[in-house]
Amino acid sequence: MTGDATFPISSILDGSVTDFDLFLAPHGEEVLYAAPGYRWTRDETTRLLANGWKEFLVVPGDAKRVRMYLQLARLPLIEKEQPPHVRINSIQDLAASFSQCLYSGEVTEAAVRHGERIARGIVECLMESPASVKEIGGLMAHDQYTFYHSARVAVFTTAIAMTMGVNDEHHLQRIATGGLFHDVGKKDVPLEVINKAGPLDQIEWQAMKSHPVTGHEVLKSAGLSVESMEIVLHHHERINGTGYPHGLQQSGIMMEVQIAAVADIYDALTSSRSYQKRRTRYEALDFMKHKLSGTDISPAAFRGLVAALA
Ligand SMILES: [Fe+2]
Ligand SMILES: [Fe+2]
Repeated sequence: MTGDATFPISSILDGSVTDFDLFLAPHGEEVLYAAPGYRWTRDETTRLLANGWKEFLVVPGDAKRVRMYLQLARLPLIEKEQPPHVRINSIQDLAASFSQCLYSGEVTEAAVRHGERIARGIVECLMESPASVKEIGGLMAHDQYTFYHSARVAVFTTAIAMTMGVNDEHHLQRIATGGLFHDVGKKDVPLEVINKAGPLDQIEWQAMKSHPVTGHEVLKSAGLSVESMEIVLHHHERINGTGYPHGLQQSGIMMEVQIAAVADIYDALTSSRSYQKRRTRYEALDFMKHKLSGTDISPAAFRGLVAALA
């Protein structure tokens, strides 16, 4: 029934919840051991291992959820073992894998909780060493852009908020979570459109522009904070009212969202895309200062970005 997919018991984290069926086959016949929503304790996994069980069987249809769980299981190791400037890149890789799973699967409640856990890792890392924001980046394949972009926007948004005086850890986590999920609505936009080298036609552009509303819709019942949800819905608003989806003026855009917009634009400018050569840090900041600050983006948030990267 379950095919060949397995799930190692040693990878189960104490206190975690699995969102897929887990089977054992004690006498060659599969028995459901844990249903979605099962909460684990270390005592239980220790007992299973002591009794000689090494892995559960899972149904192939749950493979994406299993993969996401296993990726997240790496986070505590990353937290413990690496100094902040190295850890921030490991978390970035993890967040990119997480985004990739999210884009190819469903946005379940467990997935959202995973995202919040990653956002917490980002905040902890930046609070320990604000300068570690300067270590993130690096080149990657074009088709990986969308996944890494979300990770980097979460990091940049958090770093800017910190330089602007936000120092409450929970507030920063809500901001980082918004950054991580800001483009989740793009999961419904074909990758060929997202990575298209030439200009988008009208239908493609409409599909592209719908992603903030789609993302907000997808996350509506996920229990995220107001800040996170506002970042998802309004990160393409511009302070002069030329943005979308609602054409808000600056006074109608939350400061956290204005910060996320700056982080989003900075990352897009400094990334190599199929239709654009990447700008250096200096070129991107120069462009934002002269072409966008005060018209499209908040000057205060822009100064926050400059301070974060100084
Ligand atoms: Fe976006
Ligand atoms: Fe974005």
